[in-house]
Amino acid sequence: MRILVTGGAGYIGSHTVVELLSVGHDVIVIDNFSNSKSSSFEAISKISGKDVIFYEGDVADISFLRNVFSKHSIDAVIHFAGYKAVGESVEKPLKYYDNNLISTIRLLEVMEEYQCYRLVFSSSATVYGSPKSLPILEDFSLSTTNPYGTTKLMIETILTDVSASNSKWSFAMLRYFNPIGAHESGMIGEDPNGIPNNLMPYIMKVSTGELPDLKIFGNDYDTPDGTGVRDYIHVVDLAKGHLKAIDYVMEHVGVEAFNLGTGHGVSVLDLVHTFERVNHISIPYTIVERRSGDIASCYADCTKAHEKLHWTSSKTLEEMCEDSYRYVINQKKK
Ligand code: NAD
Ligand code: UD1
Repeated sequence: MRILVTGGAGYIGSHTVVELLSVGHDVIVIDNFSNSKSSSFEAISKISGKDVIFYEGDVADISFLRNVFSKHSIDAVIHFAGYKAVGESVEKPLKYYDNNLISTIRLLEVMEEYQCYRLVFSSSATVYGSPKSLPILEDFSLSTTNPYGTTKLMIETILTDVSASNSKWSFAMLRYFNPIGAHESGMIGEDPNGIPNNLMPYIMKVSTGELPDLKIFGNDYDTPDGTGVRDYIHVVDLAKGHLKAIDYVMEHVGVEAFNLGTGHGVSVLDLVHTFERVNHISIPYTIVERRSGDIASCYADCTKAHEKLHWTSSKTLEEMCEDSYRYVINQKKK
């Protein structure tokens, strides 16, 4: 199949492109490098031994999109492109509403023009807000606590309305839990600029000495060791979930949301100690105040993805920690 991947130079997108190429799909990528580099493509080509057709441009630019669709007969789209920093979205909400919403609307318009009706969308567990119980099921009530999360919820609503307007559409909305890890080659991974907001990227910078210590946001939550519990999922498992979602949208119409996680809750201290143990390295940390907006625990029930997508995660927390460390060490050598 010929699959268009928006945001394919980014963290999850680049891993997904590798998996798509490995099973023989033709892949076309659009990215504007607002949060990635063109060197992703060299790494993807080295890993896969295949070339990616790539267009530099903005998904919100309708004439650019029409040009891409007119050159290739696209069977389905995976839409990763968007901004994702929660804190920045609170400071600059319009930047987030503009990029995340407008790019999605333009994409849907051009897909309809070119009669391409199959889309896999990157949603997030953030749409569950503060869940009423655990593990989280797809039919839980939805709410958000920041503009980034609201863009995800609004896009889910848009997809639901668009699907109701024309029965040709097929949408899979993948609600990711906490992706970490990197490709086992150590050539692609997550490498945020500046001080990271998320836990694993922060641990990675402490592991290389770029940051002196980890600040753990609270140890007085109602969790086994008092630190926050999340469902960390290896990015390669997550990438493989997109291949299953593509199969699903080719065979079904309508709109479906799927949780992609492991189903296991892991505390901040569990993650830190596993990282230390498997990589034979010390991660100094201090306990600080809770971070505003954080919840105590969040983990998925992935039964629906298992039953309908025939997907399940397979990589361990140890592999997530080893692969993250291998990637950050490789980056340092460059
Ligand atoms: P990322 O920032 O690494 O990748 C996004 C890519 O999209 C980047 O390469 C960026 O340059 C590109 N991009 C952004 N806006 C664009 C536009 N208008 N036109 C063209 N390219 C554009 O992020 P990621 O971690 O790979 O996340 C991918 C998607 O998954 C995002 O939509 C994100 O919100 C969602 N998501 C991520 C996480 C996570 O923890 N990483 C969790 C839940 C959901
Ligand atoms: C955060 C976002 C969420 C987004 C997700 C993936 C917030 C409030 N939530 O989720 O919307 O979908 O990232 O991008 O920003 N922690 C520390 N020290 C740190 C960093 C994190 O102790 O330096 C703790 C947090 O308190 C939490 C856990 O580590 O308990 C995971 O944090 P993080 O990686 O930021 O992910 P989420 O909070 O789940």
